[in-house]
Amino acid sequence: MRTHVAVVGLGYIGLPLSLALCERGETVIGVDVDERKVDELRRGVTHVMEPYRGESLESILRRHLASGRFTATTSLAEAAERADTFIVTVGLPVSGEVVEKTPLLACINDLGRVLTAGDLVLIRSTLVPGMMERDIIPRLASASGLVPGRDFHVAYAPERVAEGRAMEEFQTLDVVVAGLTDACARRAVDVLKRLTDGQFHKTSLRVAELSKVVENAQRDVNIALAHELKAVAEQHGVDVYELIRMANTHPRVRLLEPNIGVGGFCIPNAYAYLAASLTSEEHIPLFSLARQINLLAPHRAARQLDETLHRVGKRLSGARVALLGLGMKDGSNDIRQSPAIHFADILAERGASVAAFDPTVEPYFPFQAASLEDCLADADAVAIAAWQEAFDTAPWPHLLARCQHPLVVFDLKRRLVPSLKQAQWQIQGNSHLPYIALPAPHASAERDCAVEMVP
Ligand SMILES: NC(=O)c1ccc[n+]([C@@H]2O[C@H](COP(=O)([O-])OP(=O)(O)OC[C@H]3O[C@@H](n4cnc5c(N)ncnc54)[C@H](O)[C@@H]3O)[C@@H](O)[C@H]2O)c1
Repeated sequence: MRTHVAVVGLGYIGLPLSLALCERGETVIGVDVDERKVDELRRGVTHVMEPYRGESLESILRRHLASGRFTATTSLAEAAERADTFIVTVGLPVSGEVVEKTPLLACINDLGRVLTAGDLVLIRSTLVPGMMERDIIPRLASASGLVPGRDFHVAYAPERVAEGRAMEEFQTLDVVVAGLTDACARRAVDVLKRLTDGQFHKTSLRVAELSKVVENAQRDVNIALAHELKAVAEQHGVDVYELIRMANTHPRVRLLEPNIGVGGFCIPNAYAYLAASLTSEEHIPLFSLARQINLLAPHRAARQLDETLHRVGKRLSGARVALLGLGMKDGSNDIRQSPAIHFADILAERGASVAAFDPTVEPYFPFQAASLEDCLADADAVAIAAWQEAFDTAPWPHLLARCQHPLVVFDLKRRLVPSLKQAQWQIQGNSHLPYIALPAPHASAERDCAVEMVP
C-alpha cells in the first residue's frame, strides 16, 4: 500500500526533515538526483551537522537505516511505488542577483510524471513569490495529465528552521500553510501534524510564499543595520556591542549584533527572490541597500585589519593571516555564501597570505591548513570568522605564542580575547576592533609578553 512519505531533495533541509519524520514514527523514502549523496546516505554517511538530543545526525541516520524507516534513492518512480505524499525541498540557487529556477522546475516535471490520483505534493522550498501558481502547479498538471486540486492535492508550507537547530525546530515551530483548495490545505496540515507540535496558520498561496521571503529579508535588513551601527560606533570610538546592549534595554528595541557579514542559503537569497517576483518598474531600495551593506562587511573588516597592521609597522599585503572558522555561522560547516570565505578571498586579493582552519569543513580550498597549529604558525594576524566547538578547548595562549609578535587579533566572536584574559593577558578597549597583542612575559616561555589595544 502507498502510505509512506517521499522527501525530494536530501540537502541541509531535506535530510534532517526526513529523519525528524522518522523520529516521529514515519517511514520515509528520500529522493535526490545526486548519486554520490544517495550512495553515501545508504552507507550511513552525511556531513550535515544537525545534532539532536546529544546524538549526531549521522548516528540518527544509521539508526533509521537499520530500522528500515529511512531509505534513499535517486528514482522518483521507485519512491512513488510506496509513497502517496511528496515533500519537496529542492532549492533555488542565486548567482549574483539571478535566481536559478532550473533544478526545482526539473524536479517538478519529474515528479509530475510519477503522480497518481489521490497524491499530495507539498512544497517546502523557498520560492520566488508567484511560482506556485505560475510555474509549479501548471507543470504538475501538464506532466501528470491530472487536474490539480481535484485529482491530486497540492500545497505550500515554507520551511522556517535554522540550520543547527533543525531537528528540534521541525517539531516545534509554527507552520504557515496554503493549499490550492481548502481540501489541499487540510491534507497538508494532516501530514505536517505528524511532524510538528507547532500551530498552523492557513493563508493563500501568495501570502505563504511572500511571508517566507519577507522573514529572511527582514533579517537581512536588521543585520545591515547592525553593520551600519558598527561604523557609527567606530567613528565615536565606542564599543558597538555595549552600544547595542544599552539600546536593547528599551522594550521596543531589538538590535542584532554586527559580524563579518551574512551567509548561507536563506538570508542572502531573499532579496533576489523578492526582486524577481516584481515587475521591472518596482523598486525596493531598502532591501537592495541592505544586501549591498552586508556584502560590504567583509571588505570593511579587511580594511580594519590592514589599518591595524599598519600600526605595528606591517601591511596587509605580504602579511600572514590565520583565519579561524569557515562556516557561514558559528557551529556550521555550511560554506554556501559564507562571509568567512569571502573575507579570505578579499585578503588574498589584497596581497595577504591566508591560512584558514575549520575542523568541520572538508579540505576544499587551497588556503585551508591541516591543523590549528599549522594555521597559526608565524601569523601576523589572527581573525576569527566563525566559532567551532573544538576551539573551546584549544590551548590558545600556547598556540598564539607561536605567532609573530606583535600579533593583531581580530576577535569577531569575542571568544578568544576572554580566554587570553583568563590566561592573564592584559586586554583593553573596544571589542569590535582588532587588538594588537603581545604575550605577557610570564604567560609564555617562548616569547616576551604584553598586550596593547588599538585605540
Ligand atoms: N538551509 C537552510 O537553513 C534553510 C532553512 C529554511 C529553508 N530552506 C529552504 O529549503 C530548501 C532547501 O535548502 P537546502 O539548504 O536543503 O538546499 P540543498 O542544496 O542543501 O539541498 C537541495 C537538494 O536537492 C537536490 N536536488 C536538486 N535537484 C533535484 C531534483 N531534480 N530531484 C531531487 N533532488 C534534487 C540536491 O542534490 C540537494 O541535495 C531551499 O528552498 C531553501 O531556501 C533552507
